[in-house]
Amino acid sequence: MARNRAHESWNAPTIRLLCRAMTDSIESHQKEVGRFPPPPAFSAAARIASHAAYAEKHAKSLEDPESFWREETQDLVFRTRFREGAFEEWKLPHAKFFGGATLNVSESCLDRHLTTSARTRAAIVWEGEPGDTRTLTYFELHREVVRLSAALADLGVRAGDRVAIYMGMVPEAAIAMLACARLGATHSVIFGGFSSEALRDRINDCSAKVLLTQDGAWRRGHVIPLKQMADIALEKTPTIEHVVVVKRVGTSHAVAKMHEGRDVWWEDLLARTPSPGARELATTPPAFDAEHPLFILYTSGSTGKPKGVLHTSAGYLASVHVTSKYVFDLKESDLYWCTADVGWVTGHSYIVYGPLSCGASCFMYEGAPNAPDWGRFWSLIEKHGVTILYTAPTAIRAFIRAGDGWPQKHNLQSLRLLGSVGEPINPEAWLWYHRVVGAGRCPIVDTWWQTETGSILLTTLPGACFSKPGATGLPMFGVDIAVVKDHGEECKPNEGGKLVIRRPWPSMARTLWNDGPRFHEAYFSQIEGVYFTGDGARRDEDGYFWVVGRIDDVLNVAGHRIGTAEIESALVSHGSVAEAAAVGRPDALKGQALVVFVTLKTGITSDRTLKESLAHHIDKEIGKFARPDEIRFTDALPKTRSGKIMRRLLKEVASGTESRGDTSTLEDLSVLAKLRADDE
Ligand code: WTA
Repeated sequence: MARNRAHESWNAPTIRLLCRAMTDSIESHQKEVGRFPPPPAFSAAARIASHAAYAEKHAKSLEDPESFWREETQDLVFRTRFREGAFEEWKLPHAKFFGGATLNVSESCLDRHLTTSARTRAAIVWEGEPGDTRTLTYFELHREVVRLSAALADLGVRAGDRVAIYMGMVPEAAIAMLACARLGATHSVIFGGFSSEALRDRINDCSAKVLLTQDGAWRRGHVIPLKQMADIALEKTPTIEHVVVVKRVGTSHAVAKMHEGRDVWWEDLLARTPSPGARELATTPPAFDAEHPLFILYTSGSTGKPKGVLHTSAGYLASVHVTSKYVFDLKESDLYWCTADVGWVTGHSYIVYGPLSCGASCFMYEGAPNAPDWGRFWSLIEKHGVTILYTAPTAIRAFIRAGDGWPQKHNLQSLRLLGSVGEPINPEAWLWYHRVVGAGRCPIVDTWWQTETGSILLTTLPGACFSKPGATGLPMFGVDIAVVKDHGEECKPNEGGKLVIRRPWPSMARTLWNDGPRFHEAYFSQIEGVYFTGDGARRDEDGYFWVVGRIDDVLNVAGHRIGTAEIESALVSHGSVAEAAAVGRPDALKGQALVVFVTLKTGITSDRTLKESLAHHIDKEIGKFARPDEIRFTDALPKTRSGKIMRRLLKEVASGTESRGDTSTLEDLSVLAKLRADDE
């Protein structure tokens, strides 16, 4: 049960088992299947064209971070540059970066492009799911951001206030984020797939003053009525003063009831003449301290409620800028498409802040990859001439299942670089991506990072380093990352261990909103002096990192990060449930599938209707994306003598694997036998 979780530390047998499981997984899924050097034609035009150049730059970034970051952020707009010696006190768990610097993040993403050829270049090329399109040049994006920030200022939004954004994939989502940044308001984007309940909890946790949303969002031909869902949340969000609503689908598809005095249509708000003060503020925005909070993004942890990861300004911007530039090798001629949702960190860093700070043209698509059919992505690439595609292994595996015929029907010649993010990419998926989508011509960058890291920390630079399908690659600039044993000593090559980061990096999360102690507990308490990622990994003899995945109680289901504790808390809040345990089982498509074991209160009968009711309950408490793949009723859960649920055994039952584990502490062996029998 959720409340037991805080006591469940990693005891020695658990760690032994995890290590064994990791080694097994390495043996079966992580064999080297080949090395793919950067295609010479790609390297010839790449920003970093050789392994030696990468290695030299990486060494410099660690030896002399001050001059490295000074040089690499020349392009960005600072009102005051950081003071000398700002890095001297750079030591984990603190990562104050660019001490003394002041800036307005939106100026680096927008204003700086207005005096260059980027002014008339497309910043966002957007296509809606129904096929409508819209393009915003840098000039137009700047104009829209200025208009919205003036309007928000007139609604009373001030620097330091929190603004919640609950939207789908529409250009207004990016405009909203940048308008907040311009005012110094801290945005918190809440993924449009979250339920009203989840939205309410996040708004209340960060006490947001304003909510930006839309009437509805298109998804597989249907409308998700975001405003109606927001209205339910807003019944219990005392801090929200105003709601701004984008008209996306129109009244014939979703009725948005506007609450007099609180709600305003986006277009009506922007049509108002701003007060002189607000106009001034938006046109010549104030500069903020380097450590000014930029955004809060909620993510799942191994215990308790979601964590409000806080990112600040200069360091975050520096890292997403540098990684966008080198990892995606962005050029003026590119049309770059990151298929993530703006509601997750990938959308923040690699749809909005990173590529826009580079002046890149970004493609944005509103809908699902299979709407109206599995050819949609490929037809979008052909139609718009996308040159860089950055997507997730789950999507790739779904495309494989749908068949080669879909991509083969389209001309994908414009593509020059492919990227992967969110979960380990299995070699089969890598090879298919390379062969069928990239026609053997495009390098693939697998990128490892997390909400907390803010930017890509492990990858292979596309023109410089060879790729090994299944391995993520090498550390990015400024990143000191290692695989270690429990007490912090570094593992030998190919030995499985914990992935940790040993020095601060600019885009490191600074704290958890409202929960500073948990920040230290979650990331810095396991191994002395280092940041623990929660992932298991090994580093091979070439220095390449192979990330196995989470070794804590966080699941990665179809690239969505889900905390088992959240699922369990949601289930036990259902009237029929006594106890619940959530575990992951390997899944060929989603990477991991979510399996829950549930015991019921006395007198409640388990049947199909109850299963459905539990599934709906998860939809309501969290969101449809967190729906369990399998719900299993049981009379009892296996527990240790001290009452802790033995999740490891449940994982084995869920996966149908033979127990190799130690069951000596199991309270009642018959429970396990019964669970296995139910399985057969
Ligand atoms: C996993 C997503 C292997 C990892 C950017 C991490 C990966 C978690 C990769 C963070 C990758 C992400 N290879 N695993 N290339 N990328 N992960 O916060 O377990 O949603 O800890 O950030 O996803 O998920 P988050």
